[in-house]
Amino acid sequence: MPNKLKQYFQKARKEGWTIGQFNFSTLEILKGIIQAAEELQSPVILGTSEGESKFFGLEEAVAIVNVYKRKTKLPLFLNLDHGKSLDYIKKAADAGYDAIHIDGSSLPLRENIELTKKAIQICRKKDIFIEGEVGFIKGVSRMLNEAPKITEADLTLPDDALKLVKETGVDSLAVNIGTFHGIDASGQDTHINILRLKEIKEKLGDKVFLVLHGGSGTPKEDIIKAIKLGIVKININTDLRLAYSNALRKSLLEKPKETTPYKYMPEVIIAVQKVAKEKIKLFTQAKRIC
Ligand code: 13P
Repeated sequence: MPNKLKQYFQKARKEGWTIGQFNFSTLEILKGIIQAAEELQSPVILGTSEGESKFFGLEEAVAIVNVYKRKTKLPLFLNLDHGKSLDYIKKAADAGYDAIHIDGSSLPLRENIELTKKAIQICRKKDIFIEGEVGFIKGVSRMLNEAPKITEADLTLPDDALKLVKETGVDSLAVNIGTFHGIDASGQDTHINILRLKEIKEKLGDKVFLVLHGGSGTPKEDIIKAIKLGIVKININTDLRLAYSNALRKSLLEKPKETTPYKYMPEVIIAVQKVAKEKIKLFTQAKRIC
């Protein structure tokens, strides 16, 4: 089957909505996301970082997502999130991932371009959708006691973004416009730098689809503005991890003698589903199946 992800990004750009990438590392998180997508009839991207996919298994992730593709008939796309080494990117490509995010953003621009080019050679043979990244995005996907400080110097320079896009031919590009991975425990999440997003969009036009990382904790008004300005993919991880972990703790505490997973897990899946549904509604991606 040809990869329809590009078609969905074109549709999102034309109609002014965004596709959420929801990360998972357990079957229960995946079930919660799939149930949300089914209920709202939404296309979704399912993400696994290198760590998440090492825990779940690359081939296992492909196999189970294929089962859900067949059973739900939904447009589900499996993406390797923050693929950093050629070796791992090749493994994900061989396992059958639909999309790969090549993250060379911690390298100097020239090395980032070279890594991205090499990875693209591996992926293009298999009709894999490619996301690049310019402008390292700080933080980790968890509750952070101290959120990273984002300064002007951290933000993506429009000229650098254009250079990488032109030289590599990536399909989409993750840019740093002020967000970080994770949620600030004090509730002080940063605002999106709308001016920089406008500058990047002006420079790149429709050459590439723009991606926002660090979607958890970002104020809703900022997300809405970013979508209006052309962000067509937003990554969400921490919000789902928190929903899963908090619901699991609560469920086990409420049922201290229960040892049957299928008796204490359903509410955990529902907690994840609820968060995924909120995001799907915020991104206005429901009922966009073509
Ligand atoms: P959050 O954990 O802040 O949602 O970020 C997720 C992400 O960007 C994954 O690439």
